[in-house]
Amino acid sequence: MFSVIKLASETLTERYNPSLFNYFYETFPEGFIVAEKAHKIIGFLIGVKINPELAKILMLAISKLYRKQNIGTELLNQFFKEMFIENIIRIELEVRIKNKIAIKFYQKHGFKIKEKHRKFYQSGEDAYTMIKEF
Ligand SMILES: CC(C)(COP(=O)(O)OP(=O)(O)OC[C@H]1O[C@@H](n2cnc3c(N)ncnc32)[C@H](O)[C@@H]1OP(=O)(O)O)[C@@H](O)C(=O)NCCC(=O)NCCS
Repeated sequence: MFSVIKLASETLTERYNPSLFNYFYETFPEGFIVAEKAHKIIGFLIGVKINPELAKILMLAISKLYRKQNIGTELLNQFFKEMFIENIIRIELEVRIKNKIAIKFYQKHGFKIKEKHRKFYQSGEDAYTMIKEF
C-alpha cells in the first residue's frame, strides 16, 4: 500500500489523504488494480462502484519511466473485465482539461467528454467528465 501512495504522490497533482487508499481497497478491492515489474509497483488504478450500474475511476497513474508501454491500457482493460463481472454498464471519470495526454488515452479507450466542471480541483482547475458505456 505504501508503494501505491508514494506513486500517487509522485505522479498525480491532486493530494489525497493516505487513509483513503486503505478505505478504497477494503470497500471495493475489485476496483483496486496494480501493475508490477520485478516486484515493484509501476502503476495503479483505483475505481469505485457508485451504484449497481455505474463505476467511477478515481485515479490512474503509471510511473514516468514506464509510460507509453501499454501499461495504462492493461490496467484499464483489467478494470473493464472486473466491471463486466459486476454488471456495470457505465464508467465515468474526471480529468483535468489541460491533461491532453490522459484525455487522448481515455478517448482511445472509448470514453467521450460529457461535460465540463469549473474549478473541480484543489488548484481551481477545470475538469471534464468522461464517460464510457458498454
Ligand atoms: C495517462 C497515462 C495513465 C497513460 O498511461 P500509459 O501506460 O503511458 O498509456 P499507454 O501506453 O497504454 O497508451 C495508450 C494510448 O494512449 C495515448 N497516449 C498515451 N500516452 C501518450 C502521450 N504521451 N502522448 C500522446 N498520446 C498518448 C495514445 O493514444 C496511446 O496509444 P499508442 O501507444 O498506440 O499511441 C499516463 O500518461 C500517466 O500516468 N499520466 C500521469 C497521471 C495521469 O494523468 N493520470 C490520469 C488522470 S485522470
